[in-house]
Formats: sequence, C-alpha cells, structure tokens
Amino acid sequence: MNGYNNDIVNISQQTYEEIMAHSYKHIISKIGLDLFYGTKDGKATLFKADCRNVMDSIPPGSINMIFADPPYFLSNGGMSCHAGRRVSVNKGDWDKSKGIEETHRFNLEWLKKCQNILTDNGTIWVSGTSHIIYSIGFAMQQLGFKILNDIAWFKINPPPNLSCRYFTHATETIIWAAKSKESRHCFNYHLMRKMNNNKQMQSLWSITAPKAEEKIYGKHPTQKPVTLLERIVLASTDKNNIVLDPFTGSSTTGVAAYRLGRYFIGVDNNKEYLDLSVKRLNFEQRNKHPVKEEINKVEKEVERLVTV
Ligand SMILES: C[S@@+](CC[C@H](N)C(=O)[O-])C[C@H]1O[C@@H](n2cnc3c(N)ncnc32)[C@H](O)[C@@H]1O
Repeated sequence: MNGYNNDIVNISQQTYEEIMAHSYKHIISKIGLDLFYGTKDGKATLFKADCRNVMDSIPPGSINMIFADPPYFLSNGGMSCHAGRRVSVNKGDWDKSKGIEETHRFNLEWLKKCQNILTDNGTIWVSGTSHIIYSIGFAMQQLGFKILNDIAWFKINPPPNLSCRYFTHATETIIWAAKSKESRHCFNYHLMRKMNNNKQMQSLWSITAPKAEEKIYGKHPTQKPVTLLERIVLASTDKNNIVLDPFTGSSTTGVAAYRLGRYFIGVDNNKEYLDLSVKRLNFEQRNKHPVKEEINKVEKEVERLVTV
C-alpha cells in the first residue's frame, strides 16, 4: 500500500492482501451470474449482462474504483475520417441516440448504482465526448458526487475534420469524481509526479490512440489506449484494490488493472466484445508485461520516499 488509500488503515500488508482477496471473492459470489470468463489466478472476471443488473447485486461500499466509458449515443448516420478514408461513425445499435432526456435518465440510473457500490473513499472516472459528458457531469452533481478533476485527454494525432466547418475534434473529457463530498479519496500524488519527470502532473494528458499491438486480437470501435487506463489505475488505486468497468468493451481497463496487480470486474452486454476481452486478458496472463516490472520499481521507490 502506498498509504493514500484511506479505506483500510493500520494493518499489515499480508492482512490487507487477505482482506482484499476475500472481499473480491465475496463480491463475485454475490453477483450470482455464470462467469463469462475468469483468469486462473482469480484476479479478473467478466460478466455478460446489463451492467445495471450486475451493480444491483454487488454489495454496497465494496468497489474501490470504477472506470466507465458508456455509450456516447453518437451513431446517427454521421461521417468521419479513418486512415484517409471517409467512413461512417456508426458503431452499433448500442450507440444509437434515444434523445437527450432518455440519455440523461440512463446516465442518472447507472451512475447512482455506481455511487452505491463505491467504498466511502472510492472514485469514479467517466470518459465521454460532448454528446454525453455534460449529462454525466450534471448527473454527478445531482447525485452529490464530488468532482475532483476534468481531464482533457489530447489525442495528439486525431483524424482530420472532413466537413471543414469545425475545429478538428482532438480531445475527450474524463471526469474524475469521489463518491461524496466527505470522501477522502486515494490520489497517488508522488507516483504521478515521479512519472512526470518530478513535476506536478496537470489535467491535460497527451496520449495517442491505441497502438497497433493493442489491436492484434481485433478491435473495439471505441477502444481506449492502455496507457490512458494505466495512468488512471495508478493515480487512484493501490495494489489489490478492486476495479470495476461496467461498460468494459474490449476490457482496456481490465488489461491495465490486471497488469498492475489490481482485482478487476468487467461487464458488457455484447458477446463479441467480451470474446475480444478474453483474448486480451489471456495474453496478459501468459506474458509478464515490461510495464509491470517498471511500475513495480517506481511504486516501491515512491513508497520508500514517502515513508522515510
Ligand atoms: C464506449 S464502449 C467501451 C469501450 C472500452 N472502454 C474499450 O476500451 O474497449 C461501451 C460499451 O458498453 C457496452 N454497453 C452498452 N450498454 C450496456 C449496458 N447497459 N450494460 C453493459 N454494457 C453495455 C457496449 O457493448 C460497448 O462495448
């Protein structure tokens, strides 16, 4: 533990690991659905379901961090540009708009369930474009979340704007919020600083779209880069914390969480995307990723500096 996670304090590392392992197993048993997939070491699990039903069975106050990349509801016949070609932005039926009121009702519903299952000091990150991010922010305010940051993810090399009637869309917003105003959230400040050449990390993150190696098993139409999720996991959780992604898609969150030694629960209602998730998580199981070793070293170094 780096000492910033205030949910469990003053216990040995071994006891902490045992508590978290027990807590994770308990949550999985309470979900009560057949697993779509689980890693052999029991640290990552996938469910095929509507995330709202799964969250109803997760014990309140049991999840340390949630990353959610919900449908943006932008698949309405528009065009975009990919690899120099004009392509449709339609990502699937799950992404078709149902109108702003219905979208807001949906966002309020799933965010409320997230808030209920977060630990008192747990946090949630939600990514989105202008199509939904204002509804997400408003819903969070209505529900009493404490908004901590709005991260501007700068995509560095975004596709050009074909209509030439707008600026090129080069950013996505990620809202980071704590469960309530009273939360004492986990922020691994020193680690973030260390990863940023010993300078305070800002809320503008320049990270490229997923690399080709992240798509070797196929691609999800809205797949997030692993680097983005690694940063999110490292900033707001400690080892063995429990991370949930209710709209897991190809499980970029799962790859990052598993690689960094956290527990993971991923939910999606689309089998094709879960099949892709399984391939990616299997690859992680088989291969010790160099990032893991590197981060282990940095985390240990930061822990040493902070505890002296
Ligand atoms: C924006 S994508 C997430 C992509 C993911 N972040 C990745 O890196 O691959 C949203 C996902 O939510 C899923 N989805 C939509 N509605 C859902 C629901 N009610 N419950 C669970 N999953 C849902 C879709 O199938 C889609 O894969």
